[in-house]
Amino acid sequence: MAIRFLLAIAIVALASSLSYASDPSPLQDFCVAVNDSKAAVFVNGKICKDPKTVTADDFFFSGLNKPGNTSNPLGSKVTPVNVNQLPGLNTLGISLARIDYAPSGLNPPHTHPRATEILVVVEGTLYVGFVTSNPANPDQKNKLFTKVLYPGDVFAFPEGLIHFQFNAGKTNVVAFAGLSSQNPGVITIANAVFGSDPAISIDVLTKAFQVDANLIKYLQGQFWMDNN
Ligand SMILES: *[C@@H]1O[C@H](CO)[C@@H](O)[C@H](O)[C@H]1NC(C)=O
Ligand SMILES: *[C@@H]1O[C@H](CO)[C@@H](O)[C@H](O)[C@H]1NC(C)=O
Repeated sequence: MAIRFLLAIAIVALASSLSYASDPSPLQDFCVAVNDSKAAVFVNGKICKDPKTVTADDFFFSGLNKPGNTSNPLGSKVTPVNVNQLPGLNTLGISLARIDYAPSGLNPPHTHPRATEILVVVEGTLYVGFVTSNPANPDQKNKLFTKVLYPGDVFAFPEGLIHFQFNAGKTNVVAFAGLSSQNPGVITIANAVFGSDPAISIDVLTKAFQVDANLIKYLQGQFWMDNN
């Protein structure tokens, strides 16, 4: 019995040491991404440029001092700096974004499938929140955590959870966010559910949201803009 118990613990320990909560660790100093959409090999991440041709510019991005254009229906704009803008981030498990919000601007409910996010407000007042997943313990099931942030305040959004940010003040908000992936990904909930291409079946969505078909058709007919 005791041996079986120890064996079970050993298997659990081995399994957890083989799973990763973030991007895989690099196996060399760097692996600057080759910027070639026609590259014939597909790997997890991007293929490395010849290290002899790597320069400081491969690790450099400029322009995050410039506000994003918030003249859109959401009143917010994300300016990402991930491996697609800064090829030196390939295999490094980290990225950055600047987010601008006009008064009443919203970064709508979304998730990052591959990253935890840590956000700092540098200007304005930002109402932020995230919701826990369904199977958490009964007291925490779909629990909403919110906070109002002022300049200098920092808030963390756990990996994969649905979260949002809303400008609750009368002036613009500027925030910067670090993300624990070179390519965090974004799933904007409304866009994915009501704006998919092709559309998700009305039968699926009427049942899922417990509303009638006309409301689903109305929602599917909207233009779900993307602020990033
Ligand atoms: C901001 O975006 C709007 C809508 O696309 C556009 O009309 C406007 O020219 C843009 N402003 C700047 C400064 O680029
Ligand atoms: C990658 O190449 C595309 C097309 O040539 C270009 O528009 C883009 O700016 C490049 N990205 C980087 C990070 O150099």
